[in-house]
Amino acid sequence: MAEGMMGKKDMNPPASHHCHLLLGGALLLLLVSSGLSCPARCECSAQSKSVSCHRKRLASIPEGIPIESRVLDLSLTNLTRLDLSHNRLVVLLDHAFQDLRRLSSLEVGDNELVFVSQRAFTGLLGLQSLTLERSNLTVIPTDALAHLHSLVELRMRHLSISFLKPFSFKRLSRLRHLEIDYWPWLDTLPPLSLHGLNLTSLYITNTNLSAFPGAALRSLPYLTHLNLSFCRIRHIQQGELGELPYLLELRLQGSQLLSVEPFAFTGLKSLQLLDVSHNRLDSLEREVFGSPDSLQRLCLGGNPLVCDCRMLWLLNSHKPPSLHILDVQPECSAPEHLHGKSLRELREPLVSRYMTCTKPRIGPNTHSS
Ligand SMILES: *[C@@H]1O[C@H](CO)[C@@H](O)[C@H](O)[C@H]1NC(C)=O
Ligand SMILES: *[C@@H]1O[C@H](CO)[C@@H](O)[C@H](O)[C@H]1NC(C)=O
Ligand SMILES: *[C@@H]1O[C@H](CO)[C@@H](O)[C@H](O)[C@H]1NC(C)=O
Ligand SMILES: *[C@@H]1O[C@H](CO)[C@@H](O)[C@H](O)[C@H]1NC(C)=O
Ligand SMILES: *[C@@H]1O[C@H](CO)[C@@H](O)[C@H](O)[C@H]1NC(C)=O
Repeated sequence: MAEGMMGKKDMNPPASHHCHLLLGGALLLLLVSSGLSCPARCECSAQSKSVSCHRKRLASIPEGIPIESRVLDLSLTNLTRLDLSHNRLVVLLDHAFQDLRRLSSLEVGDNELVFVSQRAFTGLLGLQSLTLERSNLTVIPTDALAHLHSLVELRMRHLSISFLKPFSFKRLSRLRHLEIDYWPWLDTLPPLSLHGLNLTSLYITNTNLSAFPGAALRSLPYLTHLNLSFCRIRHIQQGELGELPYLLELRLQGSQLLSVEPFAFTGLKSLQLLDVSHNRLDSLEREVFGSPDSLQRLCLGGNPLVCDCRMLWLLNSHKPPSLHILDVQPECSAPEHLHGKSLRELREPLVSRYMTCTKPRIGPNTHSS
């Protein structure tokens, strides 16, 4: 059994719904492994450690591929989905997927890929979804990706890439969803890094980003969904986010946020959902939003909220009628009398007695309320 060669899912019998393997062109991959057998109907060379099943009318990925194979030629043009996860791929060579014109989904993951050559993806004219994950890549294979003219979704997860160059994604005019997840070394998103893309949904999550990537987002006016959860963005300042007139959902969960300045989201005229749960916010003022009345869902639980006059707008008696507070109910951590009370519980007379704002102290013992 060719353990560790081809994706587990595609090792299944031909009836498997995971893949529709017929035959055709050429699939060449460089594999690093350590069988003696040769799959039925294929030709193997011990010397070159190659397996060729070219034009054998195979209906599925053959069993019995020697695990020390380095070159695999399967010739399959009607393949629509290919999962190459759990291999020991190191390099994707030029024309590795040549003639797989119907392939619409490709997953390359859990391997030791260090290099994707510039023409590795040529011929993948119909590829709509690509996942590259858990491999040793340290840079975005910009030139290789530029051949994927039909690509709609690109997911890149669990990678040790620490920076994005300007124009990291070229000629991907159909791309709408980009996901960057678990890039622990990524700490900035330079202004031109996403330039040239026209995304509607962007996830950059579980990173080391410390500043809101406002400038990089300016080239994406059609964004509707933005997820920046689990990073280290502390503050969102006024003017940092430009106009994102179609943005419906903004998620910034678990991101160490300390403050969101008033007017920070004024360019987000269609915002319906904001998730800032599990941060370190002491408040979220109504003035943060451009059109607070369009907001429908808010996640604010897990923040050390100071329940003073700035939070009044979120009480049942004051909040916009269409706004639902989701998630864990936000609780007050201060003032002392309201400690542990959820916003939902706050009613008169607690409200007029304690939800007041104190002017800043001017000198010792001079304060007013
Ligand atoms: C590939 O698919 C096309 C259209 O579905 C079909 O006409 C053709 O016979 C298939 N090719 C092979 C080699 O099975
Ligand atoms: C990939 O990274 C792992 C973990 O850092 C390392 O052990 C392995 O040698 C690397 N493989 C290659 C081909 O660089
Ligand atoms: C994330 O950034 C902090 C502060 O610059 C740094 O100390 C830490 O090592 C970084 N983490 C990684 C995984 O790069
Ligand atoms: C960008 O995407 C939006 C939404 O999918 C579309 O309406 C618009 O025409 C696209 N613009 C370009 C230049 O492709
Ligand atoms: C946003 O990203 C986080 C971290 O990857 C994930 O847990 C969460 O499910 C995402 N939210 C949505 C709506 O996809």
